[in-house]
Amino acid sequence: SMLLSFEGILIGNSKLMFSMTKCFTDNWDNVQNVKARPDDILIATYPKAGTTWVSQILDLLYFGQTSPERQSSIPIHMRTSNPFTPHTMKQIHHIILYLLYSMQINRSLPTSPRLIKSHLPVQFVPKSFWEQNCRIVYVARNAKDTAVSYFHFGRMNMFQPEPGEWSSFLQHFIQGEVVFGSWYDHVRGWWEKKQTHSKLHYMFYEDLIEDTGREIDRLCSFLGLSPSAEERERIRGAVQFDNMKKNKMTNYSTVPSMDLKVSSFIRKGKVGDWKNHFTVAQSEQFDEDYKKKMKNTTLQFRTEI
Ligand code: A3P
Repeated sequence: SMLLSFEGILIGNSKLMFSMTKCFTDNWDNVQNVKARPDDILIATYPKAGTTWVSQILDLLYFGQTSPERQSSIPIHMRTSNPFTPHTMKQIHHIILYLLYSMQINRSLPTSPRLIKSHLPVQFVPKSFWEQNCRIVYVARNAKDTAVSYFHFGRMNMFQPEPGEWSSFLQHFIQGEVVFGSWYDHVRGWWEKKQTHSKLHYMFYEDLIEDTGREIDRLCSFLGLSPSAEERERIRGAVQFDNMKKNKMTNYSTVPSMDLKVSSFIRKGKVGDWKNHFTVAQSEQFDEDYKKKMKNTTLQFRTEI
């Protein structure tokens, strides 16, 4: 369909290309002209890195005390605004659902800071976010688990291209022929940006799994927040895998384009699920290619903990 064809994007003389769905490239000028506010918080990730998890943590940190009805009545993808979504059926759907949900809320929602979610590679972030010096939380996850999670996401989400068989999806992932392009370029590009941009907090999914409380503390010190010990514990409990999986406002059960009977959105939540998908040969091929693509970077990932 028109929505799902791949396109590269060429900006000016830049040769930067990444594959993207057509509905996005058609809307490119609108994406680039998004106006940021100085207190916006950008949640930047490659898809399947733990976007929803960190979004829920941020939402609770900022609004858990002041407007708990946000968490109890609005699905997470509507609490994080996404000004990058083009005008498609998907957006119309979002608007209708948003109106339905907001009608259930008596008090008006706090409007700042805006939590803005984006999967864009660093080079494509609208310049307004840099001009306003917005804080950015980047979340990265090891490539193998990301590929597996992305595969299952493609199976259940009708707005993703059909992933086909695992073995062919994996080759597309390695080649960067998936929506939002190369994982390798994405995580490296943002890692390099972090070296010069002090308002960028780079987190790892594996660290969150290992010690969620510690990662919440680090996030708070980056953001200059100091929740009480009880509040911090409450948040840590609320964002545990099982709790987010059964919470209708975080498990994407409200999103009509996703078929949770095919695969859950909050699916497994593990480090190392790749071992259940990669054959030995696939793993060896992947590792060899990985070494080449990631040789000139200090960025390190854990594929098991
Ligand atoms: P799996 O498919 O490996 O289970 P994103 O939000 O960026 O799309 O990422 C989705 C991935 O994050 C899924 O990975 C999902 O299960 C995992 N995830 C979401 N919430 C989580 C939580 N509270 N704890 C652990 N993993 C979580």
